[in-house]
Amino acid sequence: MQKILILNGPNLNLLGKREPEIYGYDTLDDIHSYIHDKAAEYRLEFSFKQSNHEGALIDAIQAAPAKFHGIVINPAAYTHYSIAIRDAISAVQIPTVEVHLSDITKREPFRQHSVIGDVCIDRIFGYGKDGYVYGVEALLGHAVAAEVTELAPQQADNDALLKLAVEKMAAAFPKYDWTGIYMVDGDELVVDHFVGAPTPHVRIPIGHGICGAAVAEEQTIIVPDVHADPRYLACSIETKSEIVVPIYRDETIIGEIDIDSHRPDAFKPHDQRYLEKTAKVVGTYYKA
Ligand code: DQA
Repeated sequence: MQKILILNGPNLNLLGKREPEIYGYDTLDDIHSYIHDKAAEYRLEFSFKQSNHEGALIDAIQAAPAKFHGIVINPAAYTHYSIAIRDAISAVQIPTVEVHLSDITKREPFRQHSVIGDVCIDRIFGYGKDGYVYGVEALLGHAVAAEVTELAPQQADNDALLKLAVEKMAAAFPKYDWTGIYMVDGDELVVDHFVGAPTPHVRIPIGHGICGAAVAEEQTIIVPDVHADPRYLACSIETKSEIVVPIYRDETIIGEIDIDSHRPDAFKPHDQRYLEKTAKVVGTYYKA
């Protein structure tokens, strides 16, 4: 059970009637209920607060480590100039994700700069209220990467290392319906540990399917709708979206993390960021 503090800065109490063409018609209460409805699924306990006062936000940040594992913060206008909020996050060293309803990178120049961003583990903007849920996911995903980082050096062998990574990832997210690792063997990928239904694709030639394409193209691939992608090698009719993240040792790809979801469009850039962190740890500790 993760305990998360969700903090909202000035003027967000006016959501719903405040510039709805930018911030939408949901009120802050609607956003609170939206997260509340998802909390059970994410096994999440959370506290949701808003203040128009910098000091009150700082007090909440300073008190957070005693009660919470992480913070999702929409600092609102303070994003762009509050060194005091930045210093509070940096001082208490609690994993924090910066979230904005609007895409601040496409707005006025003064909004494009955040003084908070580089003390946060991730930044999410432009997804409206879903951004808060993605913020929670980013905290959970980075927590998995941190746990695998801590436990990886103690694993007896490669088998134990892959099992650890797969099981921690699979357990963290309800949207992961198949979570596995393929390892490179010559010009093929061979399935290793996985959680989910057995796959018919135990060996995949590099260059084939989405799994093979990620290795051939040397990049993470997110497929929002597998049925619209001609590369997709069907394994389950229930699979709707997929993410494949290469695992590097030094400069060479030695394998990949493959995750399928029964939900359409389940993977966004923040999923890529925390999964690439986990892939990096696996690549670092995998013995030649
Ligand atoms: C905001 C963006 C900020 O620039 C602005 O001052 C806000 C809301 C957002 O959620 O899009 O108050 O943080």
